[in-house]
Parts: sequence; C-alpha cells; structure tokens
Amino acid sequence: MSYIDQIDLQRVPRHIAVIMDGNGRWAKGKGKLRVFGHHNGVLSVRDVVEAAGDLGVEYLTLYTFSAENWNRPKLEVTAIMELLISTLNKEIAKLMKNNVRLNAIGDLDKLPGKCHRELEAAIEKTSVNTGLTLTLALSYSSREEIVHAAKELVAKVQSGELQLEDINEQMFEDNLYTSGMPNPELLIRTSGEYRISNYLLWQIAYAELYFTQKLWPDFRREDLFEAILDYQKRERRFGKTSEQVN
Ligand code: FPP
Repeated sequence: MSYIDQIDLQRVPRHIAVIMDGNGRWAKGKGKLRVFGHHNGVLSVRDVVEAAGDLGVEYLTLYTFSAENWNRPKLEVTAIMELLISTLNKEIAKLMKNNVRLNAIGDLDKLPGKCHRELEAAIEKTSVNTGLTLTLALSYSSREEIVHAAKELVAKVQSGELQLEDINEQMFEDNLYTSGMPNPELLIRTSGEYRISNYLLWQIAYAELYFTQKLWPDFRREDLFEAILDYQKRERRFGKTSEQVN
C-alpha cells in the first residue's frame, strides 16, 4: 500500500513547516555548482506544494532564505534572488489554478527591490485564493522576529494603548510575523542535519520534529506523505500523561 493510502485524512497537520536543506551538497555530489542544487530544489518545492494542497494541508511554511544566508558568496545570493523572481513569474498561473495563497515572513525590506516588488505583487494577486497558504520565510530570523514582537508590545505600552499586566502569550503571538496562522504541528528538516537553525522558535514549541537524510532536491511528494504518516503514529501529549490523552 502506498503512503498516501495509509494517511488518515482527518488528522493531517493544519500547518507544516519545512527546513529545505541540502541543495549545495546535492549539486556537489553531481559535480555541479551549488546553484544547480537550488534550481532543482524548486522542483521539490513545486511537488510538495501540490501534494500538501491535495491533502488539504492549510499552511505550508518553507525556510527559503535565512537572515544568515546573506553572508553566503555574493554570486550565490544573487542567483537565489533571481531564482525567486523567475520562479514567482513561472509559477503564478499554477498558484492561481491550484487556489494557493502566497505569503512571506521575514525582514522583506532587505530583499533586492525587484524581488520585493514581484513578491508583493504575487502575494496581492493570490490573496483572493482560499486553499493552501504557502509562506516563504525570506531574510528570516526567528530571534529577530521575537525581538520585533517585543518592540511592538513595548511601543504599545509606551503609548498607553496596552497595560504591562495585560501582556500574555496570545498577545505576544499576535505580534509575530506568523500572526493569524496556527502553530505548525509538524516540522520537517531534510539533509540529515539535526538543528532548528533559528526557524520559528516560538511557533514550534509543541511541533513534532521529523528529520530525513534525503537532500532537498530529492524530497518529493512521497517523502511528504511518509513524514505525515510518521507524525500520525506519534502521541501528542502537550505535557499530559499518556492515559490522560487517551
Ligand atoms: C538550503 O540548501 C537551501 C537554501 C538556502 C535555499 C533554498 C532555496 C530554494 C529551494 C530555491 C528557491 C525556492 C523558492 C520557493 C523559489 P543549502 O544550500 O544550505 O545546502 P547545503 O547545506 O548542502 O550547502
């Protein structure tokens, strides 16, 4: 029986976050430049977005470019930004056809002007869609996001709009870039690395973590189904005992 036939469609995670890792190593293994890996990584993005939509996943959040990634060689950074633009242009019709709503989180002002503009235009165009919300984390740092939220709250306290005693977890969450989204139930990282790398630190407090040896350009819909099946076999206790949960 294939993986998809074993998935309980009533218990598919609402939100799946992915750390797409291993593009460089994949390319190197083939004797190619790192950029070749990123280009092939886009094919995995396409497959996984479609598969997530087919399963009724509501939110898919992809770690596309971290704040730390700006420190990579200039040539690679430029190539990724250009790839982002060309991918948006190529895929926008498909996003519309598949009812996908595009979204982005991160310090987007740091993106090159053309990239930022095209991204905003694609987000605007797909805002009418009601299916999967595809969020690209771009120039993203979770610690930066948390500091940003703290500053927002302090500003509200200073202006008298908010009382210090009234600040709670929900209010803090409402000031993160992911405001309005449910927290991910499942976080997938490819390429055999066991790290979180400054990704959605607040939001994954209770997420199930799934690590696979597969490099991102090799990760396809079957691999997503396998990760979801693994998630469905786990017991999510949220600090309670097994007996309480069952
Ligand atoms: C991690 O692999 C991948 C990235 C930093 C870039 C991810 C970008 C894409 C998949 C392409 C663009 C995506 C969209 C949505 C248009 P790595 O380079 O860190 O690999 P390594 O660890 O093997 O060096």
